[in-house]
Amino acid sequence: MDRHDRNDDTDHHPGDAIRMSRRAVLGAGAAAVPVGAMARQARRDDAGRSADRGHIDVAMKVNGKDVRLSLDPRTTLLDALREHLRLTGSKKGCDHGQCGACTVIVEGRRINACLTLAVMHDGDAVTTIEGLGTPERMHPMQRAFVTHDGYQCGYCTPGQICAAVAMLDEIEAGVPSHVTRDLEAVAFSDDEVRERMSGNICRCAAYPNIVAAIRDVQGEG
Ligand code: FES
Ligand code: FES
Repeated sequence: MDRHDRNDDTDHHPGDAIRMSRRAVLGAGAAAVPVGAMARQARRDDAGRSADRGHIDVAMKVNGKDVRLSLDPRTTLLDALREHLRLTGSKKGCDHGQCGACTVIVEGRRINACLTLAVMHDGDAVTTIEGLGTPERMHPMQRAFVTHDGYQCGYCTPGQICAAVAMLDEIEAGVPSHVTRDLEAVAFSDDEVRERMSGNICRCAAYPNIVAAIRDVQGEG
């Protein structure tokens, strides 16, 4: 048997008949596929492509709005907010959990957004400085920072304000700190503020004015 004979008679893959018949079945059925089914298939294909890249779908409520992202699982919450949602109010100071510039409020608790992965917050409610208030309708803590000059360059300020808002809630809820004297009666004081805000560094050293702003919001000014 020469080479041409072999090509004519044996180069077909044994599965060709099956593949052709599947193609024929799909081709014949395509005209009858309802639009809804095609849309569902398109979504599955998108999800598949996303999964192929190793991305994971994450749904969060950010500043009251439902958002859905397809993210590399290594994406930090800070990068998801800044790079994917363009919420650049939260700042990247150290990216190592040392400065507090990236502080946001997640499910009512302040956290360093640079130290947590976005995929860990699927379903969570996230509040950034943009969600606390606007220049026209400032949150009382934002207004107090303005009134008391609680900043100079302003780089640490979004994190300071988010931390301060959640910190007052912690005192209100009776969560003790290292300087709390009476664990049965957690109360506001400048010492408590300094201790609880010690994770938020201000290179401009606006600390006295930051404490004054927080004291004002607490109604102790
Ligand atoms: Fe997150 Fe510094 S940027 S703690
Ligand atoms: Fe400049 Fe705090 S205001 S770092």
